[in-house]
Amino acid sequence: MPDRVRLALPIVLIGPMGSGKSRVGQRLAASVDAPFVDTDLRIAERYGPIDEIFEREGEEYFRIVEREVVAEALLEEAVVSLGGGAVLHEDTRSDLADLPVVWLQVSSEAVAPRLAGGNRPLIANGGIGAWKAILEERTPIYAALADLEIDTSRRSVARIVDDITQRFGGHR
Ligand code: S3P
Repeated sequence: MPDRVRLALPIVLIGPMGSGKSRVGQRLAASVDAPFVDTDLRIAERYGPIDEIFEREGEEYFRIVEREVVAEALLEEAVVSLGGGAVLHEDTRSDLADLPVVWLQVSSEAVAPRLAGGNRPLIANGGIGAWKAILEERTPIYAALADLEIDTSRRSVARIVDDITQRFGGHR
């Protein structure tokens, strides 16, 4: 029987909306037999739907509760996928400096169908134009934090999981 790949945990997925952090995170976690934490889902479980938090309380409040959930998740032995803007928080950036971080990238052409029908508040009005502007602003932050960059535009989830386990994995 082949050895199961072992990863040092937590391992963290960052990148813009629609880059595949949740899909890849889930599959990566299953393949290394680790828990998976999606910080957006945890925020929603605790505080209600994200679009409603933005609408009721605004982005600044959202970033505060996001930081609380992210800080907690980064202490867990898990595959952790962060919301696209979590890296805006300085404390999160300093936590990530010591952890293995994968930056999932995606082209605007490939992301458009992935975002369709979603209810992400930051692009609710501006669509793909807003997505591009936000990405441009955050690209230097993602670049500074990443230990591995993967363009997910035309790559299968299985290949992406392999890329990550090859870079960070050992065997047991
Ligand atoms: C956001 C990304 C979303 C979610 C919120 C804000 C952002 O997560 O946290 O809508 O600022 O980029 P995903 O990256 O999982 O879509």
